[in-house]
Amino acid sequence: MKATIVLLAGDGIGPEIVSEARSVLDLVAARHGHAFGYDARLIGGAAIDATGVPLPDETLAACKAADAVLLGAVGGPKWDDPAAKVRPEQGLLAIRKGLGLFANLRPVKAMPALLDASPLRRERVEGVDLLVVRELTGGLYFGEPRSRSVVDGKRRAVDTLVYDEVEIARVVRLAFELARGRRKHVTSVDKANVLESSRLWRTVTAEVAQEFANVALENQLVDSCAMRLITAAQSFDVVVTENMFGDILTDEASVLAGSLGVLPSASLGAGKLGLYEPIHGSAPDIAGKGVANPVGTILSAAMLLRHSLGLEPEAAAIERAVEAAIEGGARTRDLGGALSTSEMGAAIRARL
Ligand code: IPM
Ligand code: MG
Repeated sequence: MKATIVLLAGDGIGPEIVSEARSVLDLVAARHGHAFGYDARLIGGAAIDATGVPLPDETLAACKAADAVLLGAVGGPKWDDPAAKVRPEQGLLAIRKGLGLFANLRPVKAMPALLDASPLRRERVEGVDLLVVRELTGGLYFGEPRSRSVVDGKRRAVDTLVYDEVEIARVVRLAFELARGRRKHVTSVDKANVLESSRLWRTVTAEVAQEFANVALENQLVDSCAMRLITAAQSFDVVVTENMFGDILTDEASVLAGSLGVLPSASLGAGKLGLYEPIHGSAPDIAGKGVANPVGTILSAAMLLRHSLGLEPEAAAIERAVEAAIEGGARTRDLGGALSTSEMGAAIRARL
């Protein structure tokens, strides 16, 4: 098949890890007779430096015209001034919103070879295989009103947590569809004992659940979910939740996998177009040194093949190659090894 993939390397270690993932995609294309064309564009701090804005119009237009988008990471100390008018992270939020990517899939699987890489005891992580579906274009991140003001001589700030039923139903429905292909269990996470938006979330979720007779629904409050992720993560299959809860819970869940460096993500909307990125950040401390772990980005490329291009066998082949490389002892520094970024990429390609 022919496909156009936009590459958004971004900042920090972004260019190094995206380049390894691209090499993996090239090998898959050669093996399976596909033709992937790449369109490299600017986002984040790199875009601010070159154009003054974190998401140039041309970047968004190129993404809309493409079949899929592979992103490295954005941000870094250079653009961190709290008084700055433009920030790299705004580019990420704007592209999610601009492409209508309302669902962020973050799978967390404990690979047997990495059980001892987690700070948690082996029995807490063994067998963990969960998928967080995080709502991505609503809630506190985008709600209006949002403001800073001075009221009665006191500085004051407002953020708004707002969801309508359509925003809730579409992401919950996707979670149920994904659960149907897994262990048929959805945990919906909210704070319905306090928040009005969570009570609507719970009501709409129950309605959507009616469409899926074979998938079980469980509701859980976000605070106890945070605890259960550490004490009994094996009991989760698909977890669906609003934007901010999902942001926090997925960083927590990443600890189960042994390293932030191995975790991929997919952001999906109504069509086939998706944005794929590792869940870690731009790691400015190791940028340019060639030691970053490319696994999270390579597994994101696998998700790209699966969800945007419909190439399931190719996606599964990449995932098997990653597991085989790690089982065979391939380790970057974050996993306690000494392989460089490109050596890790090569170890994976050797098993494809
Ligand atoms: C993430 C990140 C982003 C978010 C930041 C960088 C805006 O933490 O993708 O989880 O909060 O969504
Ligand atoms: Mg986050």
